[in-house]
Amino acid sequence: MHDDGFLNLLDHDSFASGVPHATFARLRKEDPVSWNDGDADTKGFWSLTSHADIALANKESNIFSSAQGIRLEDQNREEYLARRTFQETDQPEHSAVRRTVNPNFAKPVVAQFEPLIRELASGMVDKALEASEFDAVDAIAKQLPMMMLGRILGVPDEDLDWLVEKGDALIGNSDPDFTDHVIDKMDTSAYRMMPFRSPSGVELYDYAQDLLTNRRAVAEEGILAKMMRDENGLNELDFKNFFCLLVAAGNDTTRYSIAMALNLLANNPDLIAQLKTDRYWDTCADEFVRLASPTMHFRRTATQDFDLHGKTIREGDKVLLWFVSGSRDEAVFENPNDCQLGRSPNRHVAFGQGGIHVCLGMHLAKLEVRIALEELVKRIDTFAAIDAPTWTRSNFICGVKKLRVRATRAG
Ligand code: HEM
Repeated sequence: MHDDGFLNLLDHDSFASGVPHATFARLRKEDPVSWNDGDADTKGFWSLTSHADIALANKESNIFSSAQGIRLEDQNREEYLARRTFQETDQPEHSAVRRTVNPNFAKPVVAQFEPLIRELASGMVDKALEASEFDAVDAIAKQLPMMMLGRILGVPDEDLDWLVEKGDALIGNSDPDFTDHVIDKMDTSAYRMMPFRSPSGVELYDYAQDLLTNRRAVAEEGILAKMMRDENGLNELDFKNFFCLLVAAGNDTTRYSIAMALNLLANNPDLIAQLKTDRYWDTCADEFVRLASPTMHFRRTATQDFDLHGKTIREGDKVLLWFVSGSRDEAVFENPNDCQLGRSPNRHVAFGQGGIHVCLGMHLAKLEVRIALEELVKRIDTFAAIDAPTWTRSNFICGVKKLRVRATRAG
């Protein structure tokens, strides 16, 4: 769909050829607190598109609450309670769980994974480069986050393809390439108590149940085993939802960040030359994640009336924080649509920075992006797109699904 600056953010088709950046740029300039009427299935909502307003709403988490759902979809109380994770809670409930999971994802802990990530990434790149033409998303971007998720969770490698397929079906619930139950094309009410209203949620719950009852083995050092050992840990439903959250959140987002980097490299040989100087490894991952911003928004619900730029957000209104737009706000970023590998500081909000829900897997994701690229760039002479990439059909998660490239190995 051509982006004339006025595309409807509710419509998944507005995103099917890539993020409608012209629409976001217009909203930031003309209508930074904009109202969308919704449709028969989805109640109206506000969109915050500027960096400053997203930061404000993220900071005021008592006014902009996560505890009535974080997706655009309307949920009644029963559905909310059945599906919520700690991401869908406010203080103090949120911090109680966050404190228990945080240590597993702290920067120094994640840094210990570096040798493993490098070993996996180099193997993947070597395998991909055995062919002169390949789909870089499938061969590189998808593989590394999937393998690492397996290690973090502690589940066996042979289960990973299946888990990723189910995670894709949850997150990509509006894209017919990922699910037969496309959320805006059919009645999914039978699955309203399941994560993302998806039948894959049932299968993931069953898998988690098998873990809890020891019908499936799980590695002792993985986060799932740790949580099952914790006497004050999550109850059964919370454990299942936490499992689904990690399968969904820990996978596609990093894939699409690596895919964005590969797409940029495949269309700009100069970026490859810059990376080969080894001057940008400390800063490039943030720049690729900024430009990708794969989790385009999360929702909050106003707990009181709130005036912002002359508009009144009413108590109970849904408010979307469009991280994908804030990360390209010209008030904060010089030439926001350019890829500047050395951009520093880089105050993007692709990880929801500035709020209590800031991404748990941020350090892991950045390390994976960096190492995947380091291992690729040192092995290639040329790396060029064969045709245009295809994009996810979703107003929630955005990314390159397919990127056919032609590559030559460095001599
Ligand atoms: C480039 C990759 C990633 C991006 C862009 C991303 C993006 C985000 C964003 C925007 C949030 C904020 C949610 C909110 O404000 O409500 C978030 C939260 C979260 N992310 Fe990530 N994420 C990525 C990778 C990961 C990974 C690898 C994991 C785990 C293995 C993960 C797990 C989580 C969890 C559990 C939360 C909820 C935290 C909370 O509510 O306290 N993410 N992520």
